[in-house]
Formats: sequence, C-alpha cells, structure tokens
Amino acid sequence: MEGGDMGRYRLRVNGKRRVVDVPGDTPLLWALREELGLTGPRYGCGVGACGACVSLIDGEARRPCVETVDQVRDSRITTIEGLDDHPVQQAWLELDVAQCGYCQPGQIMTTVALLRRNADPSRSDIDDALKDNVCRCGTYPRIRAAVSRAAEISRGRK
Ligand code: FES
Ligand code: FES
Repeated sequence: MEGGDMGRYRLRVNGKRRVVDVPGDTPLLWALREELGLTGPRYGCGVGACGACVSLIDGEARRPCVETVDQVRDSRITTIEGLDDHPVQQAWLELDVAQCGYCQPGQIMTTVALLRRNADPSRSDIDDALKDNVCRCGTYPRIRAAVSRAAEISRGRK
C-alpha cells in the first residue's frame, strides 16, 4: 500500500493484533496514542530527537514519532503498557527516579532494550544507550543508578 492511502493496518502491539484505520504514512506514535489509546509513549519533539516516545520495535529501542505505520506493519511493537512488573520498572520505583515523569517511559523502554542486549552494562554503556533521551527535570543521576539496579535485579532472576 502506498504511504498516504487510507488503509486498515493490523499491527502487533503488546502481544495483541490491533487494527488501525489510518494513512500508511501516519507516524506510529499517532496510531498508538490516538487510535489505540496507548499514551505511555509521549510526544516530545516529533522528530526523533528527544526520546520521549521510545518503544520497542522488534525488541529494539526505536522512535515511533519517526516510524510510519506502513514501515512497522510486520513488526512486534511493545509500549510501556506492555511491560509487566519488569525489573526496570521495579528499579525505577525503588530509586524514585521520576520527577515530572514526562520523559520516563522513553527512558525506561530504552533501558529495557539495553538490558536485552547487555545484561551487565558499564557506566559508559549506560551513558551511550541513554545519551539521546532528554530529561528536562535533570533526573540523569537517578536514571543511571536505576539502570544499574535494574541490571542487578534482572541478573538475580536468572
Ligand atoms: S517524540 Fe519521538 S523522539 Fe521526541
Ligand atoms: S522527569 Fe521531567 S522530563 Fe524527565
């Protein structure tokens, strides 16, 4: 289907088939928030620069504000609503990371993706993974500590 045409897209979101009726060039973020009511992925910049919308696409941290519905039609999409008492969520609560909270779903999903590929990230691995996730409240020190704690919790579960 050409981008721009209206279409029914069957997306795999949080383990379920969901149907959205939108043009193929609609940003995935719009489909998630407006069509499916999944407001965990936040709208920050809309151009892939802030990380507020980060969700998992085929297990990787990606930015639904710059991915179109047509591009992800065959992918597995996970938003923060699809996590279930995940070690990263546990660590975030334990260290009381959030301030206003706006950026935090993106920070958490970026961390989930990091720990999928690296169970024991170093300080520089953490900095590198999160360098493009902006927090206007400046919670960076708590985020870094929580990533290490989440890695510890995850390793303890294995
Ligand atoms: S809203 Fe997607 S990166 Fe900023
Ligand atoms: S907690 Fe406010 S923007 Fe990060």
